Amino acid sequence: MRRIAPMLLAALAVLAAACEKKTQPAPSGEGGAQATQQGQPAAPGGGNVPASGDVILLGQVGALTGGQATFGISTRNGIEMALKEANAAGGVKGKKLAIRVYDNQSKPEEAAQATTRLITQDKVAIILGDVASSNSLAMAEKAQAAGVPMITPSSTNTTVTQKGDYIFRVCFIDPFQGYVMAKFAREDLKLNKVAVLQDNKSAYSIDLSDVFTRKFTEMGGKITTTESYSQGDTDYRAQLTAIRKTQPDGIYVPGYYSEVGVIARQAREVGLKVPLMGGDGWDSEKLFELGGSAIQGSYFSNHYSPDNPDPRVQKFISEYKATYGGVPDALAALGYDAARVAIEALKRSKDLSGPAVRDAIAQTKDFPGVAGTITLDDKRNAVKSAVVLKVGDGKTEYVTTVNP
Ligand code: PHE
Repeated sequence: MRRIAPMLLAALAVLAAACEKKTQPAPSGEGGAQATQQGQPAAPGGGNVPASGDVILLGQVGALTGGQATFGISTRNGIEMALKEANAAGGVKGKKLAIRVYDNQSKPEEAAQATTRLITQDKVAIILGDVASSNSLAMAEKAQAAGVPMITPSSTNTTVTQKGDYIFRVCFIDPFQGYVMAKFAREDLKLNKVAVLQDNKSAYSIDLSDVFTRKFTEMGGKITTTESYSQGDTDYRAQLTAIRKTQPDGIYVPGYYSEVGVIARQAREVGLKVPLMGGDGWDSEKLFELGGSAIQGSYFSNHYSPDNPDPRVQKFISEYKATYGGVPDALAALGYDAARVAIEALKRSKDLSGPAVRDAIAQTKDFPGVAGTITLDDKRNAVKSAVVLKVGDGKTEYVTTVNP
């Protein structure tokens, strides 16, 4: 019974999703969707529910705990919403959709292992995830080798989709995102000298830092210094002091919210008053809490703005709020979009085999996502606009849109 109980729980969770029983809105992950029961490594093997004839199983690997926890949770909520809608509308090919979710604890090794589990045990039709590019890179390796299609909702590092023809994304890539902020810094903020502070443990951060540096310099700006930290660090004063000495008029910090919030406070502490700028990795409601007033007035590039008046976007926001009780961030929007692209592809696909589903995803064209219209190019990337947001008091403010 000991061993069987978790299996039954997991099975029930999948079926509950498939049968469209109301799942708990659980931002913490506790009882939320299927994450806790299925994702915990505490029950090894316990998550293996044989694919049933009536259910098409999808998989998600995401950070539900650790330094990027809000990323996985928001993404999971968005995916869950898309699945519920699709099931309510009759499912796909006469079957209901269900999702198996594994927590990667914000670590690439865990992400790789969870992906293998989705492939070999759960035999999912499509893998969704992750957010942080370093995790998606680890996952893509496994998915490509096994010939299981993977769609990352939000990993922007160029190399993720270069892992092979089974790997897709529904967001823009960092060469564009870096350009967006360089242009904004030069043309809107009129900055001349910017310092860069990058996370050396993140493929995303390193690349974005490079692109920004190149573009900002091409536009006639000067980079005063490039300093670095490692994800999880808590003291950035040495780097910030070194930055202060170069007297920049802005600082580009292409990291994740968990570190950026703290960096903002310490920057003010060491006497740096200039604006901070960053990328989509800042996007989390936790940023406001961690950064407090120190982060207000800073800018970051992102995939979507909740201020977008488009009825499609506003409808998504009000439905999301009703279920999960907060304004959806870009991760939720992109999770929703990625799941809907996956579902549409499953509908169009001639069967559920890897190659057929891959071909169907590749044909995604003019798909109306809430974070922009999605057309996948021949490199399996979406070409989309970006927005620049300003950090306000407990919320972001839309500033501008930049088209590719
Ligand atoms: N683009 C980031 C990465 O590739 C992840 C991210 C996307 C974070 C959107 C927040 C919002 O690592």
